[in-house]
Amino acid sequence: MNDLLPGEIEIWQFVESTARTLFGRFGYGEVRTPMVEDTALFVRSVGEETDIVGKEMYTFEDKGGRSLSLRPEGTAPAARAYIEHSVNNQEPVSRWFYMGPMFRYERMQTGRYRQFYQIGAEAYGAKEPAQDAELMDMVVQFLEALGLQEVTLNINSLGDENCRPVYHAKLVEYLKAHREELCADCQQRLERNPLRVLDCKNEKCQSVAAAGPNVLEFLCEPCRAHFNDLQRKLELLGVRYVVNHRLVRGLDYYTRTVFEFIAAHPALRTASTVGGGGRYDKMMKGLGGPDVPAVGFAMGLDRLVLLLKESGKTFAQRPDLFIAVADEGSQDEGLNLASRLRREGLKVDFDTRGGSLKSQMKRADKSGARFTLVLGEQERTSGQAKLKPMAGGEPVPVALDSVAATVRAQPEAPAPAPAA
Ligand code: HAM
Repeated sequence: MNDLLPGEIEIWQFVESTARTLFGRFGYGEVRTPMVEDTALFVRSVGEETDIVGKEMYTFEDKGGRSLSLRPEGTAPAARAYIEHSVNNQEPVSRWFYMGPMFRYERMQTGRYRQFYQIGAEAYGAKEPAQDAELMDMVVQFLEALGLQEVTLNINSLGDENCRPVYHAKLVEYLKAHREELCADCQQRLERNPLRVLDCKNEKCQSVAAAGPNVLEFLCEPCRAHFNDLQRKLELLGVRYVVNHRLVRGLDYYTRTVFEFIAAHPALRTASTVGGGGRYDKMMKGLGGPDVPAVGFAMGLDRLVLLLKESGKTFAQRPDLFIAVADEGSQDEGLNLASRLRREGLKVDFDTRGGSLKSQMKRADKSGARFTLVLGEQERTSGQAKLKPMAGGEPVPVALDSVAATVRAQPEAPAPAPAA
């Protein structure tokens, strides 16, 4: 679990505000659900045999004897809220997004944390492949807006309740015949969740899986048509993808489409999956809700931030102005001027400790402010001062009652005023 401090948080805020703006354009409204839910919610949706539910949840009993869990993901809580508020009676097609912390007891490594953050979106009520394609297009536009281009979209179809059992039986038969070649974990997976053998990182398991049955060859006609149409629509939208028949995902609720966005950057090491999702047409009903199809995704915010850090871009907003005081008698006036300019929308830094002009100038340098204004007795009596450009250049004369306008009028545009 990490602490996020100023200096880094600006990257997080950039990712979050980009998501809010972009997802809003696609008609998604934000939802916020509690951090804890009944444990049973995740058991019934994500699945008892998954690593997430079986090994990674933070589960505890509350004072009323209920079993609760810190949410390991956001899809099940959003579905619970959708059912609880009978949303489908008011609006059959609803689109939601969320962002916030999720919790999984995982082994710590780069890009894999126990409290991590997701930005996710869920589209309810449309079973058509156009919805899957539109959602993936939204992720692509989101990554573009962040300036992250080297990310590959992998797609697959896991079939539905008609065709998946046939594939499942064939896969188990095949894997049992190769049991001795699998790693110890996969020998166990074979009994509990054989699909997971397909995305084991062990080289031997990978070569066994590669030669095994291909899920796409087992799709029934409607699932095949859905998958083909999805690909046609992705092409129509210019969304590039690769078909990966071994993509299975680590959650049990998916039917038909599954997808993952995988980044090429080595900084992420084994945590290269920056996002994933898929269709879960049966989950809502399985939770006792209405029979509403849905498709969604979640991105790992921590991983997006790691990639943005690597890009070397700066996200912190530097101050427009640093106000330094030349003498103790100007301290009150400096405090007051800073207050006034902030009200007028400037980002202003001021050393509330006072102290020598030299030490204040050091701080001004460190602050990264565009200009410094030194306030002393002479400036106070004349009402005139100078804006010293910190990057070098001629000082700009300024009247103390028009500092904000003068700063704004300087060539390199200052940071925009915060929205009211
Ligand atoms: P997921 O693949 O389990 O899917 O998680 C989505 C993303 O969250 C991952 O691709 C990864 O970037 C990030 N993530 C997962 N675990 C960690 C961790 N321990 N540390 C850092 N990042 C992590 C879901 O959670 C589904 N609810 C997605 C979805 C939405 N499916 C349909 N709708």
